[in-house]
Amino acid sequence: TIDQKVNALLKQMTLEEKIGQLNQYTGNNAATGPITINPNKQAEIKDGLVGSMLNVVGTKYTRQYQELAMQSRLKIPLLYGQDVIHGFKTTFPIPLGEAASWDLAAIELSARVAATEAAASGIHWTFAPMVDIGRDPRWGRVMEGAGEDSYLGSRIAYARVKGFQGDKLGNLNSVMACVKHFAAYGAAIGGRDYNSVDMSERMLWETYLPPFKAALDAGAATFMNSFNDINGIPATGNAHLQRDILKGKWNFQGFVVSDWGSIGEMVAHGYSKDLKEAALAAITAGSDMDMESNAYRYNLPALIKENKVSIDLVDDAVKRILRKKFELGLFDDPYKYSNPDREKQELNNPEHRKAAREVAAKSIVLLKNDNAILPLAKSTKTIAFIGPMVKEYKANMGFWAVELPEVDYNKWVVSQWDGLQNKVGKNTKLLYAKGCEVEGDNKDGFAEAIATAKQADVVILSIGERHDMSGEAKSRSNINIPGVQEELVKAIQATGKPVVVLVNAGRPLVFNWTADNVPAILYTWWLGSEAGNAIADVLFGDYNPSGKLPMTFPREVGQIPIYYNHYSTGRPAQDDNAKGYVSAYTDLKSSPKFPFGFGLSYTKFDYSDLKLSTTKMKSNEKIQVSFQLKNTGKVAGEEVVQLYLKDKFGSVVRPVLELRDFQKVKLNAGETKTIQFTIDNEKLSFYNDKIEWGSEPGDFELMIGSSSADIRVKSDFELVK
Ligand code: IFM
Repeated sequence: TIDQKVNALLKQMTLEEKIGQLNQYTGNNAATGPITINPNKQAEIKDGLVGSMLNVVGTKYTRQYQELAMQSRLKIPLLYGQDVIHGFKTTFPIPLGEAASWDLAAIELSARVAATEAAASGIHWTFAPMVDIGRDPRWGRVMEGAGEDSYLGSRIAYARVKGFQGDKLGNLNSVMACVKHFAAYGAAIGGRDYNSVDMSERMLWETYLPPFKAALDAGAATFMNSFNDINGIPATGNAHLQRDILKGKWNFQGFVVSDWGSIGEMVAHGYSKDLKEAALAAITAGSDMDMESNAYRYNLPALIKENKVSIDLVDDAVKRILRKKFELGLFDDPYKYSNPDREKQELNNPEHRKAAREVAAKSIVLLKNDNAILPLAKSTKTIAFIGPMVKEYKANMGFWAVELPEVDYNKWVVSQWDGLQNKVGKNTKLLYAKGCEVEGDNKDGFAEAIATAKQADVVILSIGERHDMSGEAKSRSNINIPGVQEELVKAIQATGKPVVVLVNAGRPLVFNWTADNVPAILYTWWLGSEAGNAIADVLFGDYNPSGKLPMTFPREVGQIPIYYNHYSTGRPAQDDNAKGYVSAYTDLKSSPKFPFGFGLSYTKFDYSDLKLSTTKMKSNEKIQVSFQLKNTGKVAGEEVVQLYLKDKFGSVVRPVLELRDFQKVKLNAGETKTIQFTIDNEKLSFYNDKIEWGSEPGDFELMIGSSSADIRVKSDFELVK
């Protein structure tokens, strides 16, 4: 068995070799954090002092480093990790964009394609999925997650892990998933990256931990801890999180890697006096692998000698890592995943582009479509395409896109301009103007943009954030559309031409003037290699938009944190304009600009005839729920039907409503389908004040609708003893 092989190998290892397995370095000079000390990386690999590398991509380089490892005494292969966050060579939409598809099969497929390409290129392990709940759009890393909701986030976390890992580790197209960042990183105070988190145990269990558990249930091989401290203890040195919960209660058998330098950062936190104390805190708390802190490599030998760290702790960490190397098949063939022929084939597989286009189209959210201005007619004579990112391939890649040195991305990525050109026939004239830059206050390009708009029948205006404005270390205190772009919208709208706005972004932005005045808006996130084609598919109705927002869009930054499933207060605002002694702002409506779960379609859906098999349920019983969903429009479309529950009274205060199930349903024009859901005790359960999971008898409200703020059918029921 693998365990026998691991134990046999462990017996042959010196202490230095064991500690080497816990040591991870970056290669190829790529860095997502400060590189501390390691001038002799290559020599250290030969000496068996390195267990894993990150940022080494391509068969050429993964082979080179592996050859060094094969010169070490025990020939233990290196493990290659990489941030494969939304695609490898074929870039998919950013994870938050994909989450807007609410399409679990599409999300799994995206991860599957990414894994297939990465694995063919020598990568064994992706640092994904990021499953941090994001309730604060100032935090730039919301782009990497699945949004604000722990139920949707859990379903997506599960799908992503399945997609990355495939049927089993060891398959040629599987990579290990790394669920991150354990835990609660998404709640960094003020949305400022790397900041502290202060959170009750109940909030942790109720909102922030469920997606991690779901990823574990899907079989995730590894976890990454995080930069933040939580309630005063850095996550990297947090035994409660890693030992009690992850490796204890959840019985996680894989290994935990630190975040980049996060062991060393416990010194800056003021939690550890020096790197040696930081190493002691991290290994004690259950961090198995040290990413770029050089803490274990240089301090564990002394800590063991001084009896501060028991060899059992080190052995446990080493075994967890070796087990994965065996499961991946690296001891049978250390070059198993470094195959230039397969790399060539998989990195140019046309099926991958097809998938990227489909997933990108599904991720787009139609926020507004007054007078059915969209879809555009293919017979439109003149279209003006205006905006700073229209012709730029990078605008579509987004943060964390892998950029392979040998790829000409100008050719590989379909820009928004190229996509439109591919779509329209010879009879449509396309005009272009840049208008302005993404940032800055220069309006010199306005005159040309206005003149261009005046010549067109319709104007498409592409604005938003540059590809690097959301992501790690990209927190913003102001989440308006940057620069003078919204002023450009005003100037173009003043021409009286019909205007369609595309918003490119890695997070919810504030764009009130545009939202209130422009007739059509598509939220296009950063959609990846096939962005241009996917956007054109939606603009012209070859794909009917079906995305729904996975995060609440605030009216103003001052509403943050704003999320749909907030607790019931003692003085709720009864309506949007309620003022006085109620829970509301005096200077702003209570509602968000766009609610969680919101997104329009080119058709309309009617919900009716809700039926419950019973309105009194015992905890060992189930309620069968059904209703009729009808496509009342003229075109086929998909609707994400969302099931929310409200526990009306509890031993602790409950949210005003909570997503508990959803389905994405496709209906032809005029078609009606019976949609069914099942309510069981699990769906009615929550963590009580003792952090015990379970349901409580009492009254519930069941609500089914098209968004968290658009409930179409509802019913009360009771959970009886
Ligand atoms: O995987 C990332 C992590 O999410 C943030 N810090 C750097 C790591 C490796 O690049």
